[in-house]
Amino acid sequence: MLHRFLTPTEIILGKDSIKEIEGIIERENFQSALILTDKGIVQAGILPSLTNLLEEKCTYTIFDEVEPNPTDRVVEKAFSLFLKVKPDVLIAVGGGSSMDTAKAVGILATNGGEIIDFKGIDKVKAPITPIVAVPTTAGTGSEVTTTTVINDTKQILKYSIGGQHVAARWALLDPALTLTLPPHITAATGVDALTHAIEAYTSKKSYGLTDTLAVQAIRLIGENLRTAVFEGNNIEARQKMLEASLIAGIAFNNAKLGLCHALCNPLGAQFGVAHGVANSILLPRVTKFNLPAQLKKYAIVAQLLGENTDNCSVNEAAEKVVTAIEKLIIDVQLPFTLGEVGVDQKAVTQMVDECIDNPLIDINPRKATRDELIQIYKDCFH
Ligand SMILES: [Fe+2]
Repeated sequence: MLHRFLTPTEIILGKDSIKEIEGIIERENFQSALILTDKGIVQAGILPSLTNLLEEKCTYTIFDEVEPNPTDRVVEKAFSLFLKVKPDVLIAVGGGSSMDTAKAVGILATNGGEIIDFKGIDKVKAPITPIVAVPTTAGTGSEVTTTTVINDTKQILKYSIGGQHVAARWALLDPALTLTLPPHITAATGVDALTHAIEAYTSKKSYGLTDTLAVQAIRLIGENLRTAVFEGNNIEARQKMLEASLIAGIAFNNAKLGLCHALCNPLGAQFGVAHGVANSILLPRVTKFNLPAQLKKYAIVAQLLGENTDNCSVNEAAEKVVTAIEKLIIDVQLPFTLGEVGVDQKAVTQMVDECIDNPLIDINPRKATRDELIQIYKDCFH
């Protein structure tokens, strides 16, 4: 099998990396920027650290209506503003939703059509409007992935658009911008990054290069997520978490994901469950299901998450991984059942019907039947 490794984004990581925006604007001779963000970012007072730098470099317009699980409607609204101001660069400030919205707007700007036209892989033929991604959460990895995920409001489903053009050109990862992130969002986005790393590590598409990245991301999250949640001002832990989500992003962009990400889409589309929260509920159950198919790797994950596996057989060490994940999720105070986040158990079979054709199910380490998918969802209610 041939392995293709793609990482088209220039990455700048470290405190004050936001200041690199000045050099980018000057070098590229950008005259006008459209900033895509959400109201939470505006209220948290994060934007001036960017706009103060832009003041004398270029004109800028702010679109602050990005929503979690970004919909086609939000994309259309942002694109109408794009058509009015005709910017030559998009600056996404926020979590995955801001970055995914920016990618979708960038696609429409240079490829025309409607966003649903690009559903799938490699449908985006022309390079998109340049994007500077400024993540303010450490989780999605969207700053370095070649995909965007859009929520279709007509069919009530989430779909991906992927391909080499569907990427930010620059990613500025400044831990200072994540200091005000509340504990529950730090926790949920951090567990999303952990899910990326574990699913990339155990995926059927994983190989040495992606494994190296996934292992490092799992280690960093195991060592730093609790600190980032409980000591929000700890800039070192914040930077390590940004680094972890970035590395996990590069890993899963190449090794892909698995059952957690297949099963979490209907939870977001139908019940509005935040992506990271959905993953945190699914991860222990999916890991338990996958365990027999990847014993050696799960034994390593248990160790990376701090379990003592000395003198354990591979089986014994692997079994500790579920406990390690559960302990982390409980420690960072995330919900543990789907009932807690308002999901109706009666919707289980319909949710399985919605995700059963997701190609991630085929690269998950253990092949799941329809009945097994139903059972995994049901397990999430106990
Ligand atoms: Fe994710």
